[in-house]
Amino acid sequence: MVVSLGIDIGGTKIAAGIVDADGRVLDRVRRDTPTTDPLQVIDAIADITELFRKEHHIRAIGIGAAGFVDATQSTVLFAPHLAWRHEPLRDAVARRTRLPVLVDNDANAAGWAEWRFGAAQNETDLVLITLGTGIGGALVIDGQPYRGKFGIAGEFGHMQVVPGGLSCPCGNRGCWEQYASGRVLTRRAREAADDGTPFGVELLSDAGGDVLAIGGAHVTAHARRGNKEAMAWIADVGDWLGVGIANLAAALDPGTFVIGGGVSDAGELLLAPTRAAFSRTLTGRGYRAEARIVQAHLGPEAGLIGAADMARLTARRRRPAS
Ligand code: BGC
Ligand code: NA
Ligand code: ZN
Repeated sequence: MVVSLGIDIGGTKIAAGIVDADGRVLDRVRRDTPTTDPLQVIDAIADITELFRKEHHIRAIGIGAAGFVDATQSTVLFAPHLAWRHEPLRDAVARRTRLPVLVDNDANAAGWAEWRFGAAQNETDLVLITLGTGIGGALVIDGQPYRGKFGIAGEFGHMQVVPGGLSCPCGNRGCWEQYASGRVLTRRAREAADDGTPFGVELLSDAGGDVLAIGGAHVTAHARRGNKEAMAWIADVGDWLGVGIANLAAALDPGTFVIGGGVSDAGELLLAPTRAAFSRTLTGRGYRAEARIVQAHLGPEAGLIGAADMARLTARRRRPAS
């Protein structure tokens, strides 16, 4: 079977998988993202490709990258959480692997996957929000993926929600992703551990005593078991999320918001407060139809599935004979 390879390069993890034409993941690997040297990212991609090539006939590689990807889907212009600056990722990977390569933003790739195979199939007007290290966004408008003139549409995480607020690695202050992403949970958890609060002590022991090993997933696990503090932290994220989504509804008026990324694993613990804040702040509420807010279906593999699928479709267009 001819398959494609999808690689999702996030702020902390690389997730890669072999994907068939129906969006099924046949084989997978995960690595830590080398965050300081772009060359090491290319080495990791080349390694993963060689590994999978032993078992699979790969036709194309799709990469979802956590950064601003240009309109030709080849260069990462800028990445707040990684070292890419005008990084010609597509050509570098094509040279190393001798395969057709397509690069898109990680959230765009996840949005594509949820639209094709997941939570929002057949939706004509869709906004996807992924909550990971940052906030990523993807748009489908009038039945078409929308990337903007320069390829960078949907960078919702860097809309300023608090003038003069927390500083963001993009260089600005008060960006939405500083208030509503996975990093928020990580930050609060590590602070609690540093302060030695009772919950902080528990979190620290979950992480084997290493503050830097504490992550949002630890908080979510406690929230699921009914820990009030953990639930409140997730509800705070939901509150900021819902307000931001109401703003996006004012601008874009989609039918569905799909919420994905690591924090969305919290399910209703996140989505109930999100919907409450959305209903509280939506402009014209009571006099207008309201978008659905739903959890993504494809979990942490959405990005790699979408990237692989886009690469497969593009390669098929270019080589109709094979
Ligand atoms: C980046 C986006 C990315 C998102 C999720 C944001 O900080 O600007 O390009 O999609 O994080 O990884
Ligand atoms: Na995007
Ligand atoms: Zn920012």
